[in-house]
Amino acid sequence: MKILAVETSCDETAIAIADFHRGSRKNGGIRVRALSHIVSSQVKVHAKFGGVVPNLARREHEKNLVPMLRSALAEAHLLKKSHRAVANTPIHRCIKVEEILQREPNLLRQFKKSIVPLTPPDIDAIAVTYGPGLAPALWTGVNFSRALAHLWNKPLIPTNHMAGHLYSAFLQKSESPSLQPTIYNLPIIEFHLLALLVSGGHTELVLMAGPNKFKIIGETRDDAVGEAFDKVARILGLKYPGGPEIARLAEKGDPKKYPLPRPMLHTRDYDFSFSGLKTAVLYLVRDVGKLTPQKKKDIAASFQAAAIEVLIKKTMRAAKEYKIKTLALGGGVAANAALRAALGSTIAKDLPDTAFFIPDPSLCGDNALMIVAAAYFSDKKKSPERAMSLRADANARLG
Ligand code: KG4
Ligand code: ZN
Repeated sequence: MKILAVETSCDETAIAIADFHRGSRKNGGIRVRALSHIVSSQVKVHAKFGGVVPNLARREHEKNLVPMLRSALAEAHLLKKSHRAVANTPIHRCIKVEEILQREPNLLRQFKKSIVPLTPPDIDAIAVTYGPGLAPALWTGVNFSRALAHLWNKPLIPTNHMAGHLYSAFLQKSESPSLQPTIYNLPIIEFHLLALLVSGGHTELVLMAGPNKFKIIGETRDDAVGEAFDKVARILGLKYPGGPEIARLAEKGDPKKYPLPRPMLHTRDYDFSFSGLKTAVLYLVRDVGKLTPQKKKDIAASFQAAAIEVLIKKTMRAAKEYKIKTLALGGGVAANAALRAALGSTIAKDLPDTAFFIPDPSLCGDNALMIVAAAYFSDKKKSPERAMSLRADANARLG
């Protein structure tokens, strides 16, 4: 099974191609070869606005997708230009491509020039993130993938971005990093599985009773935890995106220096709230006098400790309540070393029989390899004809 995936939900354009081989591993897992795995970050474009500007993101995706697809195909040895391909492409396919990409004229122009003349590559399906995310950004990837599915007559697998973050935890990088292409092992997952998904747009506890049985049992009622990291960073005058900046400062700060609130720590549900914590930091900064470098480090450390404590306590309570066999962490904030370490040691101490999976740091941020993995397990494969009705859904939810 060879899948090509397209991810454009926010400010990274990403394309990956991977193949899957079942049963060849000692532990019965699946061997995944990342034939190509490329991410183009737009951080520089959005940094001066202090956050992602949806229409700028869309413009960048439109610019990036065609050259990135060609690079990905070339890297996977699947780029075959045939002079006959244009002539052989039935005229109705070309007309339909024009119709699908009519709202993306720049993309259509590049698509006709550089994609239509290619021989359809040897892949089994195309996966695309249809949501959640920023609508204009999502639509670019969805329309691009619909056009590809139609042109190459391949099935389309609409994939949820958060399912991607969830499955990223299970892509275990092979021990030999020099191997080309990079090999990952996807172990057999034991259910029930609980996933703590923490990103710039979401903070969710997702319970899976079996394959494709997702249920959100708790989520943030206001800001996502990544958003809180970004906002606190802005309050402290740090650059965008703030998560990694806060983490860097926190390493050298005292997490007990400033007592900050732990919102919803003791509520009986599994929901979160981070906007009050952010506001508490705002007041602290106002009251603390001149913001010296050491004060910044202590505030960053105190904020990070508060956020992590709530995440871990609620996750552990859910883990015990649902008697889970597997715990996974995923999303951009899963790159946070303090969170990874604290959750790992708490699980080892309190639930030592629970298998714990965290993504390789290179797979925490948005990427298309995680979309390939989620698509592989998806039961939502659409035929090329039915794929035409696929729509982006900015508020898509798991389950
Ligand atoms: O998953 P992601 O790349 O994009 C979304 O789907 O939102 O997550 C991005 C979020 C940003 O808020 C960013 O500040 C945060 O992840 N982040 C971190 C760290 N690295 C990225 N937050 C805390 N510590 C980090 N090391
Ligand atoms: Zn994400």
